[in-house]
Amino acid sequence: MWGGRFSKSIDDAFARLNASFGFDWRLYDADIRGSIAYANALARANILTDAERDTLIDGLARVKQEFATQTFAAKPGDEDIHTAIERRLGELVGTVAGKLHTGRSRNDQVATDTRLFVHDAIRNTQHAIRDLQRALIEKSESHLDVLMPGYTHLQRAQPILFSHWLMSYFWMLERDRARLADGAARASVLPLGAGALAGNALGIDREFLARALGFARVSENSIDAVSDRDFIAEFLFDAALLGAHLSRLGEDLVLYSSAEFEFVTMDDAYATGSSLMPQKKNPDAMELARGKSARLIGDLTTLLALLKGLPSSYDKDLQEDKEPLFDAVDTLDALLPVVAGVVRTLRVNADAMRAALDASMLATDLADYLVRRGVPFRDAHRQVGEAVRLAEQRGVALSDLSAEDFKNIAPEFGADVKDVFDFARSVAAREVIGGTGPNAVRQQIARAKQRIA
Ligand code: ARG
Repeated sequence: MWGGRFSKSIDDAFARLNASFGFDWRLYDADIRGSIAYANALARANILTDAERDTLIDGLARVKQEFATQTFAAKPGDEDIHTAIERRLGELVGTVAGKLHTGRSRNDQVATDTRLFVHDAIRNTQHAIRDLQRALIEKSESHLDVLMPGYTHLQRAQPILFSHWLMSYFWMLERDRARLADGAARASVLPLGAGALAGNALGIDREFLARALGFARVSENSIDAVSDRDFIAEFLFDAALLGAHLSRLGEDLVLYSSAEFEFVTMDDAYATGSSLMPQKKNPDAMELARGKSARLIGDLTTLLALLKGLPSSYDKDLQEDKEPLFDAVDTLDALLPVVAGVVRTLRVNADAMRAALDASMLATDLADYLVRRGVPFRDAHRQVGEAVRLAEQRGVALSDLSAEDFKNIAPEFGADVKDVFDFARSVAAREVIGGTGPNAVRQQIARAKQRIA
């Protein structure tokens, strides 16, 4: 491929270091799509006859078939996917294969392939996210009457609907999906025609290539085009943040499925046992959701470290962009369907959640009661605090204080103060948009359904 000026062949150990076919074979579909479009562009520029173009396109289709059926036979000299395909094309169609690379460099070729690959990866990831979002909606809708403690600082804070907690993950995922869509639009720029770095001298119609390959625009600067990997960095950031969201869901579910909480039970299909302790049922699926997020963050930092400090245009370092990209794609492919399965099969223990509610979680509602009777909130907060302290001193629940006790603390407290100690009522009071009131949550779910429709 480039041996003309060399006097001896490449060192074996260096060849192994240099080769990327072992992983970049995954670009075969994108590479062949790109080459078919390029053959058409070469014919339009009168570099190929129509017959030569057809021969090349037929040959490329056959190579693609070999990859698709796993019958492609790699040879030791196949440095990367681009050279492997060109070598095989030559074997299939003869010397005309040598015309395909006219005016093209592996630099604009690999940049094009990788963009096509990322485009597909984004679409697949969006689909998998949407399925998990559907699972969250289904579970939320079928458990609208379940109350649970809401936490801040992992301390019991206020009663909420279980569905409201679950739906909070829907919106994180919705942002993830939107971020991927933003990235897809920015990635839709065609590098092909940038050549090695200076552009194409043979009259290639880049607008035609962009249309043929489904890109929205062509790159404006050939030097930038061959080294721009921003679209991979963005995808990896999106993947890392999505991973962080799945990790948080994982942490919640690991905690909630423990004997200390017992809020939820994971289906046996998504749990494992211990080889030593016969009684154990471990929430491995969600522990892995937590664990896999670490490698997604690692993939992002690998790419950012790779890009920093590179001199202008293409550098071979950029070959290292693919493994973190593929790793992130594979990690999300493996993880997202499992998380959706965990959510779909999750058993919700409404009684345990209810039992974990305690009267002090209604302290805010007591303060709201005083506010409705004209007490400034700061005073109400202090007075309810005094009530909490009194209950603590007596070793009783806040709800065990008498109406008289409350009246002694603040004259605005009436006999109806005892009505405040009703968890469902507390939740029902929060019908503000985005609140945990049952109607608000129903509306939230309706809006969520519209988003993913
Ligand atoms: N395998 C290479 C990569 O992934 C293809 C581009 C090689 N370009 C070159 N000038 N050596 O980056």
